[in-house]
Amino acid sequence: MSERVTPALLGKWKSEGHRITALTAYDYPLACVLDSAGIDVVLVGDSVGTAVLGLPDTVGVTMDAMIHHSRAVARGVTRALLVGDMPFLSYHLSASQALENAARFLQEGGCQAVKLEGFYPQLVETLVDVGIPVMGHLGLLPQRVRLTGSYRVAGRSADERTTLFEQAQALERAGCFAMVLECVIPEPAGEITRALAIPTIGIGSGPHCDGQILVTHDMLGLNRGRVPRFVRRYADLDETIRRAVGAYADDVREGRFPVSHETYSEE
Ligand code: KIV
Repeated sequence: MSERVTPALLGKWKSEGHRITALTAYDYPLACVLDSAGIDVVLVGDSVGTAVLGLPDTVGVTMDAMIHHSRAVARGVTRALLVGDMPFLSYHLSASQALENAARFLQEGGCQAVKLEGFYPQLVETLVDVGIPVMGHLGLLPQRVRLTGSYRVAGRSADERTTLFEQAQALERAGCFAMVLECVIPEPAGEITRALAIPTIGIGSGPHCDGQILVTHDMLGLNRGRVPRFVRRYADLDETIRRAVGAYADDVREGRFPVSHETYSEE
């Protein structure tokens, strides 16, 4: 479990049929847990906005916030490939803006790669050209939710499938080392996965992708907002924490904590 995961290793795993595990993290303690549990890819997702900052969507997440969270996560990750998510409008203004912000993830944030949501093959080429590994992201694009008005499954119509397929191939040609497919109908997600040499990492896109990613707070049951239907809950931390906090509050109110011999000293 000690070999550092790299973009090249993910490509090798795809060719060997070795499935990739990925989760999001936004802070140091969770990063330590995911890394020591052997998760292959840790994404500092712009889902930080909805998962921990209490925002209605990812549009309000800034570059400075992403760097702040990336730095914390990077301190806890030694094995996983650490990917920083380029937030809304951090790469749309110009190639130099995209380069500057992507470089911040590597230089300040401690990430090994960036993820770029949407179809921007020229920007991918520009970043890869200077040595910045880029993960693509097609299908449902949460950064566009204020335009689309809802979180809609992608790839329903034949036209949409063709577009997705062609965009995925173009992003691979532009140099992406992997591709997130979010909420793509399983059959086209499988077609794209079979057609690409780079691994696909699915979220709500069925079983045919080369790997899977979830928002960690969703799968741990620690999410006050919208939880997509495809999420499987592996824990109910909301309830676990509520019980622990309730027990603490009862102890304080009833005079059971602290007890008289306990002090602040560690001896
Ligand atoms: O921000 C995020 O967490 C993501 C994943 C849903 C892939 O982009």
